[in-house]
Parts: sequence; C-alpha cells; structure tokens
Amino acid sequence: KILIIDFGSQVTQLIARRVREAGVYSEIVPFQSAEKAFHEIKPKGVILSGGPASTADIDSPRAPQAIFEAGVPILGICYGQMTLCVQSGGKAEGSDHREFGRAYVEVVGKSPLFQGVWDKIGSRHEVWMSHGDRVVKLPKGFEVIGVSENAPFAAYANEEKRQYGVMFHPEVVHTPDGAKLLSNFVHHICGCANDWTMAHFRADAIKKIRDQVGDKKVICGLSGGVDSSVTAVLIHEAIGEQLTCIYVDSGLMRLNESEQVVSLFREHYNIPLVHVDASEIFITALEGQSDPERKRKIIGGLFIDVFEDEAESIGGADFLAQGTLYPDVIESVSFTGGPSVTIKSHHNVGGLPERMNMELVEPLRELFKDEVRALGRELGLPSDFVGRHPFPGPGLAIRCPGGISREKLDILRQADAIYLDEIRKAGLYDVIWQAFAVLLPVQTVGVMGDGRTYESVCALRAVTSVDGMTADFYHFDMNFLSKAATRIINEVKGINRVVYDVTSKPPGTIEWE
Ligand code: XMP
Repeated sequence: KILIIDFGSQVTQLIARRVREAGVYSEIVPFQSAEKAFHEIKPKGVILSGGPASTADIDSPRAPQAIFEAGVPILGICYGQMTLCVQSGGKAEGSDHREFGRAYVEVVGKSPLFQGVWDKIGSRHEVWMSHGDRVVKLPKGFEVIGVSENAPFAAYANEEKRQYGVMFHPEVVHTPDGAKLLSNFVHHICGCANDWTMAHFRADAIKKIRDQVGDKKVICGLSGGVDSSVTAVLIHEAIGEQLTCIYVDSGLMRLNESEQVVSLFREHYNIPLVHVDASEIFITALEGQSDPERKRKIIGGLFIDVFEDEAESIGGADFLAQGTLYPDVIESVSFTGGPSVTIKSHHNVGGLPERMNMELVEPLRELFKDEVRALGRELGLPSDFVGRHPFPGPGLAIRCPGGISREKLDILRQADAIYLDEIRKAGLYDVIWQAFAVLLPVQTVGVMGDGRTYESVCALRAVTSVDGMTADFYHFDMNFLSKAATRIINEVKGINRVVYDVTSKPPGTIEWE
C-alpha cells in the first residue's frame, strides 16, 4: 500500500488514481491524521501532496516527522516537496519567479525515479508546475536530478534514504510522463507488486462482505445508476438470496429506464427485486410545486418514506447496502474551516442510514468512479449500462423547471430519448460527460405546415467534465444540433422550438434546478 498525505491540493485525488492505475492500492489521509494512519497502514511508501500553504509561514502544515525516520521511501510533490526539504534540514523561500502552467525540466542526474522515462542526461521534458515557493538549499545527502528555468531544484533525490522531491505535478495529464514517474516510484523504489486489479478486488470484497454479514439479511436500494447496481451485483455474488433489492420507481426516470433496471436484475442476474411503482405518490406531491429546493426536498423525503415502508413490509433486514464511493469518504483538508454554501441539496438514497438505524455494507468505499465501472465490467454488467452518464436522484423533475405534470414528463422523456439517440449515433456518447434535454415552462409561436403552433421550448444540454464539479458546455457541430432539433420538433408533439445551452459551470450548474 501507498499512503498519500494530503496538504489540500485540488489534485490530490489524482495522485491516488495514478498510483492505482499503476496497479498499486493507495489511500489518502489529511496531514492532521497522517501519523496515526501511517502506523496503522504500514505503507511501503509515502507521497506528500501539493497544497496551497507556504513553508515560509510559521504555522504551515507539516508531515509527521516519524515518516522521515521510518526508512520508507518518500516522494514529495510541489508543497509536499517543500516540506520534505524543510523538515530534512534544507531551506525554501517565497519566490518572485512564480512558475505556473507548462514548464520544461532538464534531466541532470540519473535516478530510479526517471528509469526508462527520462534516462538521458540533458534531455528536456514537459511538466506542469504550479507553485510560488522554491527550494534554495537542499538538505544534506540530497542531489539535484532535474532543473527548470525558474527552479534550479525542480527534482532532487536522496538515493540512500530513497527520498525524492519534485516541484511539478506528475499526477496531472499535463505532465505527459507523470504517470510513468509515479509508477517508477511505487514499483522500482517502494517495491510494490502490481496486484491492484478488479479481479483481485472482487474476490477480496466478496470475502469481506461474507465476513461482515454472516447469515443475516441485507437490503439494497437501487437507483438505476451504476454505483447502486454494482453494489447489488457484488453483494449478491457474495451472499445470494440473503440480499433483497428495492427499486423505488418515482415516475421521474428516463424513457424505458425502469423496465431496463427491472429486467437486468430479475432476468439477467436473477436477483430478487421489489419494484415499487410510487409514481402516483411522487407526482401528486410535486403538483403545483415550482421552487427547485422545495421539489428536491419533497423527492428526497418521499424516497426515504417509500423505501422504509417497503423494507418493513418485506420483514426488514439487518444491513443496508450503499454504493458509497471513495470521493464521498475522503476527509477533505480544509484551511478555512468555514461552512460552504449549499447550492443544491443533493439527494441520493443517502439520507437513509440515519433514519433506519441499520448497519451499513459499503463495498465500494475504496473505489473511484472509473474503478466502479471497471468492476461493473468485471462482474459482467452490460458495457452500455456501465458507461451510462450520471443521472440525478430527483430525476426528470429538476429538468422540468416550474411545476411538473405527467404530460410534461412524457414530452420531456421523448425529447431526451431522441437527443441521446442522436448523440449515440454520432459516436459522441462517451466523449460527453452528461447530456440531457430540459423542458422549459415557456410557450412560443411557431409555424408547421400551414398552421400556427403554440408549444413548449426544449433546451439541450451537454457538458464535458472530470468530476461534475466544473464543466464546459460541449461544442457540437451545428449540423448535429440542427439534426437533433429537427427530429425533436417533428417527432415530439408539444415542442416547437429547441435551444442549446452554452453555459459552463461555473457560473451555471449542470442541471437547471
Ligand atoms: P450540478 O447541477 O450541481 O450537478 O452542477 C452536478 C452533478 O450532480 C448531479 N446531481 C445529482 N446527483 N443527486 C445526485 O445523485 C442529486 O440530487 C443531484 N443533483 C445534481 C448532476 O446530474 C450532475 O451530474
């Protein structure tokens, strides 16, 4: 295992991903709890992340001194490298020459960190820098192995102690050789085996689930999404009929989605599934409600009520399974400590555990989204299912700004299905992170054939993103948009105008409500 100590960089999670992609398990801990984690995990190597602080500040964060004396290899990145330097007796200071963005590192020394990647002394390589401080004096025993224009100590090493510092970010894609350097660190320097594979994870997870659950009963709420589906299939493989799945059908799903989920579980996997058609309850409760937060709250509350009732009627269970992922679990490093503003009250079946007082089974807690997809494939889930775009818990209700009705939802479902069909046909589905149609509460005048129309406007949205936190609108070819718009207007009764949303996030959000 590799331990990653987080100093609050925006890209710490990427370090963990790159290490895992190299076939080695890694865990992130905030610097405040790093010492405890270090003794518990007993890692084969430690990576110190970047962060916004400056080592020149008196109270800037430090790595536990114990790790420097434990004899395990250490790699410091950006801020992590500054603190490695300072804590080992070197010197760093603020610099007038900030390096930000693309830079080039020239190799000046041989190192196992560069093996097979940057072997040639004098060769220059593109990297991504982002820092204000710089090292002015290396600690004793350290040698420079790479320089950049503004950083005479862009990379340095103490080969005897197996401690390395790099001023650039090897974890981001803008450092083209970064993944290989990280792989060198975990394999050649730390001696980790290449054993973090999904087949390995699957076998291990099944054993853990069996140990935790014994012969007791588990219920799992399915949402139709990838995370809860993979959770259910994995648990079913571990404990078979002790698992019951509950699918609360809110009537707010996309076209044919509920049928697909039900048939996938009942027919393909033979997993017991209770399909609760609660559409009447949801749509009635939402009638006349147009405030986005109010709509979200109503839906979140109803999900829990319906799920609870259903769980009771099947005789309850001892465990509740959840598709919690690693990014939800990582304790983030906060320097301000202040409360952040709620933009939207997100809901998943996530509010359940507090209410239901059941022990949780969360087999995906260690995984990133792309790893869950890989596990889904490993478990034989159909690849188009595994690769599906994210879909929000409140479903189509938040894609119908204003009040909703069955009729509006039907119109939206048809437009959305046509739009996605065109995206798939154009081979763009996997390039786009999320795409959907929105039905606006606006009527406009149009002309079709010889007649006047007065119907709704449909907005199309498509974004690229890495994690949904920020997003750019997708730059479609106009011919594509024209084709999708024409089909929607011709085929969907109730829509006579289509517009495309060219807002990125920020300032917009991905969903309209
Ligand atoms: P926003 O609209 O906040 O969305 O930019 C970011 C991502 O989150 C999804 N989303 C939700 N997912 N429950 C969820 O599970 C929710 O209540 C929810 N609201 C938004 C959204 O689809 C996008 O992928």
